[in-house]
Amino acid sequence: QKVTVLHGPNLNLLGTRQPEIYGHETLDDVNKQLRETAVLAGWEINCFQSNHEGALIDAIHAARQDGSQAIIINPAAYTHTSVAILDALNAFEGTVIEVHISNVHKRESFRHHSYVSLRADGVIAGLGIHGYQAALEAIIKAR
Ligand code: DQA
Repeated sequence: QKVTVLHGPNLNLLGTRQPEIYGHETLDDVNKQLRETAVLAGWEINCFQSNHEGALIDAIHAARQDGSQAIIINPAAYTHTSVAILDALNAFEGTVIEVHISNVHKRESFRHHSYVSLRADGVIAGLGIHGYQAALEAIIKAR
């Protein structure tokens, strides 16, 4: 079993970017924790971050081909703008879980709408980086 984890723009700065909103842990910390959980459960895991919309779309296409049963995606700002990422996810047949570190509904109104939520099977927001772990546990338990 395989899960693909996708991190959108600016998440490479996790830990130093607005830590009052996004916390002090880094993207490496997030991926390391996810990898530990996945490996313990006997799952393969692919983690990828990009600041480029097209690269994220290519990674979603790759997940269609590489046997990934699920995608965990934090599309970051593309959540609120990207019909193209929504379309790519619509072409993926497995489970999709959308994760936001912050509670987007408590923030500016432009963060309240998500294109990706039109496709996501589950949405987690506001649990900090634990949201990724919760998403992975849900995927593992559902299998
Ligand atoms: C975010 C929320 C988005 O609105 C923002 O653009 C991000 C991160 C989150 O994880 O809380 O970059 O997706």
